[in-house]
Amino acid sequence: VAEQAKNLRTPIVCVMGHVDHGKTSLLDKIRGTAVVDKEAGAITQHIGATEVPLSTIQTLCKGIMGGNVVVPGLLFIDTPGHHAFTTLRSRGGALADLAVVVVDINEGFQPQTIEAINILKQFKTPFLVAANKIDRIQGWTPTKNMPFIKSFANQPEFVKNVIETRTYELVGKLSDLGFSSDRYDRIRDFTRNVGIIPLSAKTGEGVPDLLMMLIGLAQKFLEDGLKLHVTGPGLGTVLELKEERGLGYTIDTIFYDGEVRTGDTIVIGGKNKPIVTKVRALLKPKPNREIRIEEKFDRVNKLTAAAGVKILAPNLEEAMAGSPVRVTKEANLESAINEIEAEM
Ligand code: GTP
Ligand code: MG
Repeated sequence: VAEQAKNLRTPIVCVMGHVDHGKTSLLDKIRGTAVVDKEAGAITQHIGATEVPLSTIQTLCKGIMGGNVVVPGLLFIDTPGHHAFTTLRSRGGALADLAVVVVDINEGFQPQTIEAINILKQFKTPFLVAANKIDRIQGWTPTKNMPFIKSFANQPEFVKNVIETRTYELVGKLSDLGFSSDRYDRIRDFTRNVGIIPLSAKTGEGVPDLLMMLIGLAQKFLEDGLKLHVTGPGLGTVLELKEERGLGYTIDTIFYDGEVRTGDTIVIGGKNKPIVTKVRALLKPKPNREIRIEEKFDRVNKLTAAAGVKILAPNLEEAMAGSPVRVTKEANLESAINEIEAEM
């Protein structure tokens, strides 16, 4: 396992769902941050990325995570729920190995909940449903950060009934979209059924259950596909082009496969033609920090997928959000340029 673990790729988990249903709040709870408070108009307008190390996940799951965990952590992608950002949701969905669809349990499925699930269906991405805001259910008695199963057992009968009823409403909606589902603790075969995890991004209840399920799914994915092993030159997608004071143009990029080093030649999709440049610096946000708003970065010489990184390089001003990025050897430059052209 140790040898294998060295090459394990961090799985990419995309968080999707309707506006205001609590995607960023859920990530804030996991990271221990308050990104929501820094968002203009309290809505997310860009794709975000945060690396959450296994140690953070284990701390949140204290006691409930068994077995041999071999994934190094999870790279979470935050997406906007506002209807105007369909392109960003598709881009996030395309990058994901796994996804969490966040739905406000009190509001049920809304247009972008359905849109998100259809995107995941198109990419055949396995997903879980986080039935958020259980703390808003009348009569719910919260216990901070408690696993859902334990906290549920402590609730009065009428509260349990509301949870059950609303969960079955979600099961019905998922069935309309072609998915068999149930509350996660009633599911045996997660390859055939979508797990629903009632939780609260505010109180943290159910968050341990969600993380445990995500790790389980990620490892299943790893066994089945070997897709999580890092091999070869880096492949990524530009999230955003940013002009940083004192640095010039930079691209916030998610690498979903392979490796990248400073000095590497990269080809990036540009406004008119592919850009060929050399990586001057790789600036990595600290663990549990959102690349979208972070201002402090660690300079690294090398990184392996999956990772979010700010790339500093000459001639980036024509790079575009959503463009592909490829690391290439000089000898293969021609074909790398052709591949980028074909992808644009
Ligand atoms: P967009 O990114 O704009 O699509 O929204 P979002 O899904 O990221 O929602 P966000 O996390 O910004 O939360 C929207 C509002 O719901 C905020 O006021 C949160 O404080 C609140 N909220 C989120 N989760 C919970 C929860 O579990 N319980 C309660 N009571 N409020 C929550
Ligand atoms: Mg958000």
